[in-house]
Amino acid sequence: MTTPAGDASVGPAATRLGSSVGPVVVGAEDLRRRVAELGAAITADYAEHPPLLVGVLKGAFVFMSDLSRAIDLPVDVDFMAVSSYGSATRTSGVVRIVKDLDADLSGRHVVVVEDIVDSGLTLSYLQRYLMARGPASLAVCALLVKEGQQRAPLDLRYVGFRIPADFVVGYGLDADERLRNLDAIHVLADPSSSPS
Ligand code: IMP
Ligand code: MG
Repeated sequence: MTTPAGDASVGPAATRLGSSVGPVVVGAEDLRRRVAELGAAITADYAEHPPLLVGVLKGAFVFMSDLSRAIDLPVDVDFMAVSSYGSATRTSGVVRIVKDLDADLSGRHVVVVEDIVDSGLTLSYLQRYLMARGPASLAVCALLVKEGQQRAPLDLRYVGFRIPADFVVGYGLDADERLRNLDAIHVLADPSSSPS
């Protein structure tokens, strides 16, 4: 596990995308390096049984894309879309499945690919939901974990970065569906600009 060095600047793309983009929390180069390390770890751990990667939409789409290409195994990919009831910046823990998996999980070695773990309630629900489908194993790869926020015990086998508990955007993560295409993780400068 690594703590991001980050850099305090806001790049040109971030500036174009809006004034609500704050300082960088994890820079693009740190993301590339860490995703390569996570891919290498998964490659080593799953050499005998290539996994099914289950990306949690929409936030994980950028991470999933880079991570899958950093794994040197014939992985399968599938996606789920979930939405938590509650405000945009605070989850309620009640999760609605918006898009279910296409794949049959029975006997598969599954790696859930998640963008960020905040309270952990979304992931905790998803783990129970997926375990009920009879996978041979289930592990989680989360790009970001917010320090000190988890309200449920979670077994996170792979973690990219542990970050402070600010609301962040970019590299797939959104504020009200915006800012997903920033190439670094930024603090949202003005949280009141996302809906409540
Ligand atoms: P949790 O259930 O509190 O762990 O929240 C997890 C979900 O909330 C993530 O999959 C994200 O979709 C969303 N989320 C939590 N924190 C952030 C953030 O800082 N930026 C963007 N989305 C977030
Ligand atoms: Mg989201």
